[in-house]
Amino acid sequence: MSVVQVVLAIPERNNQKKNFMIQKIAVLTSGGDAPGMNAAIRAVVRTAIFHGIAVMGVRYGYQGLIDDDIFPMESRDVANIIQMGGTMLKTARSKDFMTEEGRSKAAANLKKHGVEGLVVIGGDGSFRGACALYAEHQVPIIGIPGTIDKDISGTDYTIGFDTAVNTAIEAIDKIRDTAAAHDRLFIVEVMGRDAGYIALNSGIATGAESVLVPERITNVARVAEMIDYDQKRRKNVHIIIVAEGDDFGAEPLTHVLQHKFPAMEIRHTVLGHIQRGGSPTYYDRVQASRLGYHAVLALKEGKSQEMAGIVNNHIAFAPMDSVVKKHQPIDDDLLDMVRVLSS
Ligand code: F6P
Repeated sequence: MSVVQVVLAIPERNNQKKNFMIQKIAVLTSGGDAPGMNAAIRAVVRTAIFHGIAVMGVRYGYQGLIDDDIFPMESRDVANIIQMGGTMLKTARSKDFMTEEGRSKAAANLKKHGVEGLVVIGGDGSFRGACALYAEHQVPIIGIPGTIDKDISGTDYTIGFDTAVNTAIEAIDKIRDTAAAHDRLFIVEVMGRDAGYIALNSGIATGAESVLVPERITNVARVAEMIDYDQKRRKNVHIIIVAEGDDFGAEPLTHVLQHKFPAMEIRHTVLGHIQRGGSPTYYDRVQASRLGYHAVLALKEGKSQEMAGIVNNHIAFAPMDSVVKKHQPIDDDLLDMVRVLSS
């Protein structure tokens, strides 16, 4: 490719603002942070500026809208953040925004700043808030799914899930080393308040003996049967992955199993918030960038009340109100596979 071709391949910056319907947007992150949110923020800010749209950042999610913690952003403000976990815009779970009064203040502040469209990066609680803001004040909003739990319908991908699973895998691999050294049973609790995706995927990837998820009722007798069977054939190392939202729970399970198998050494580990932090994987950086980029294009095209997701590796938009009504189903086939592959 010649130098001239390379230069022509770079899209031209368009500064002719008067051609665009939308002149100013804002971006916020809401709910639990997720690694890759910074990549999405960076993409939103730079795509907007590229298209001649002014962009405002909102600190602390919806609470920042209410408190008028809203500031103009430039391209340089998002330099050197793509590799960082957390969110440079900070985040919160705003109780005030759950009230009509809070949402009225938020809408008034957006109006005051001349914001004509909002990008909300968050989970389904954040999208519920977005639906209410739109219903009451008609603020055009595009959602970007951002949660390590991956519990959002209408998309195969949510920001942070890939990094969180990889973090869990790294920790569980280490636990397996020490479990093997002592012939111990480990019960490892991973995050996932309502969803078992982190549990299921980290369980498959680490060869766990059992995975317990909130989407299925836990059958403790069955778990004990499996341990008993494994003991009889001298399979002495067990890893049981339990999602935080499992109906029985990791701690009670530890007590019940210890009581049932007094000769076994059973340990319980909670991985906790380390799963939410850390530098995002390549996958989270790239997919979050795609979503941020397309969220701005969607607002520019006049889309509203839709979530930008990824389905079969293509950008796909879904109406936000339909997204919040459904739950992403868990794959039975993968759950069945756990036991077969660990036998
Ligand atoms: O963001 C999702 C999540 O990590 C859940 O898996 C977990 O239950 C929850 O957030 C924890 O929230 P907090 O950080 O407020 O304790």
